[in-house]
Amino acid sequence: MSREYDILIWGATGFTGQLVTQYMQTHYADSNLKWAIGGRSRTKLEALGCPANVALLIADAHDAQALEELVKSTRVVLTTVGPYARYGSELVAACARHGTHYCDLTGEVHWMRRMIDAHQTDAAASGARIVHTCGFDSIPSDLGVYFLQQQMRERHDAVARHIKYRTRAFKGGFSGGTVDSMMAMMEAARTDPGILEIIGDPYALNTSHRGLDGTDRLEPFYDTDFGAWVAPFVMAAINTRVVRRSNELLGMAYGQEFRYDEGSLTGQGPLAAVGAAAMALGTAAVNGLAAVTATRQLLQRVLPKPGEGPSADTIASGFFDIELLAIHPQDATRNLRARVRGDQDPGYGSTAKMLAECAVCLAQDELPVGGGFWTPASAMGDALLTRLPANAGVTFELIEA
Ligand SMILES: NC(=O)c1ccc[n+]([C@@H]2O[C@H](COP(=O)([O-])OP(=O)(O)OC[C@H]3O[C@@H](n4cnc5c(N)ncnc54)[C@H](OP(=O)(O)O)[C@@H]3O)[C@@H](O)[C@H]2O)c1
Repeated sequence: MSREYDILIWGATGFTGQLVTQYMQTHYADSNLKWAIGGRSRTKLEALGCPANVALLIADAHDAQALEELVKSTRVVLTTVGPYARYGSELVAACARHGTHYCDLTGEVHWMRRMIDAHQTDAAASGARIVHTCGFDSIPSDLGVYFLQQQMRERHDAVARHIKYRTRAFKGGFSGGTVDSMMAMMEAARTDPGILEIIGDPYALNTSHRGLDGTDRLEPFYDTDFGAWVAPFVMAAINTRVVRRSNELLGMAYGQEFRYDEGSLTGQGPLAAVGAAAMALGTAAVNGLAAVTATRQLLQRVLPKPGEGPSADTIASGFFDIELLAIHPQDATRNLRARVRGDQDPGYGSTAKMLAECAVCLAQDELPVGGGFWTPASAMGDALLTRLPANAGVTFELIEA
């Protein structure tokens, strides 16, 4: 594919787009990659102060004709222009039609479902690899499971029948773009009940396989495998769907009866139980408040606005630490545990690095799949298990017993 640019960072002026742009400048300025930045405002793009050899591409997210020209000029589009259901559909359609690889940060499951249904045929025909969820949701989950199943096969010639993902600790903030995306999804669900149906389906992103997992657990519980209380994890409704789709896209490599769930560890003892209950209530309360128009508008006034996000200090001092347990199909002494860790704020510092590495991977690496809608693990699993620890401060390690 001969194109003017290897990678276009679309939405470079946004909060996360700026972090991605900084990362590319620091890590790939001297490489042979040709990358450009894009957005709707030339003035804002110029203010980023990129070197003169980084081209500035201008278009509005709803100008389908301009987007066609844009995607024809680059081999990969990396986009942070969200909410994706509001701003992303024309771009995905254009990439799928013109064979342009694509990665994003969406967590909008209903939108992904609709994009897959609308454009899978075009993407398969054009050779465009379209990969959603290339940030904190859902790379630690998707790659963590991929890594653990690889270890289970290598060490025990088996696949885990169940993997549990538990956050041990994380520190970071959130941005106006994320708030906007969450609120936009709630607003859309109010007028389109089909959205709630998709979001509530544990296999919402699968084509045909439906396994043993039920709906996400919303109450706190004690997990004897971790000796700790577990609260609902806020990203579980996205990540679990992505992992289950990976299983299907990998040809049921994790097995027909594979089960997967996510939660947040709060610790041992009565205080931890109260903490888990408080987290469960807090998640339900935020969802409840965001679902009601009046309180949603109030939340939007007090939470960060689009373009705003955590401070540089919060990003630099942030981190995440996740443990995954893979349960052997017959023999509990052969269970495996892994740790997935990141060295910056999960949603922004680490997310920007993961997304940038996905774009470079789509541009440069030999990948085992052709055109179509893929998950990070199914398209780039092996390549990312090398790239992310080497470049992005995201590590995948077995916890030796
Ligand atoms: N999955 C994850 O782990 C994760 C983490 C972080 C963020 N996210 C998601 O990433 C997205 C971006 O978040 P953010 O905080 O970076 O948002 P943001 O700061 O609001 O940035 C949004 C970007 O979209 C651009 N944009 C808006 N309307 C446009 C239009 N009509 N045409 C062209 N460009 C347009 C903005 O341009 P202007 O600068 O000109 O306004 C800006 O560059 C959100 O959907 C968020 O949920 C996901």
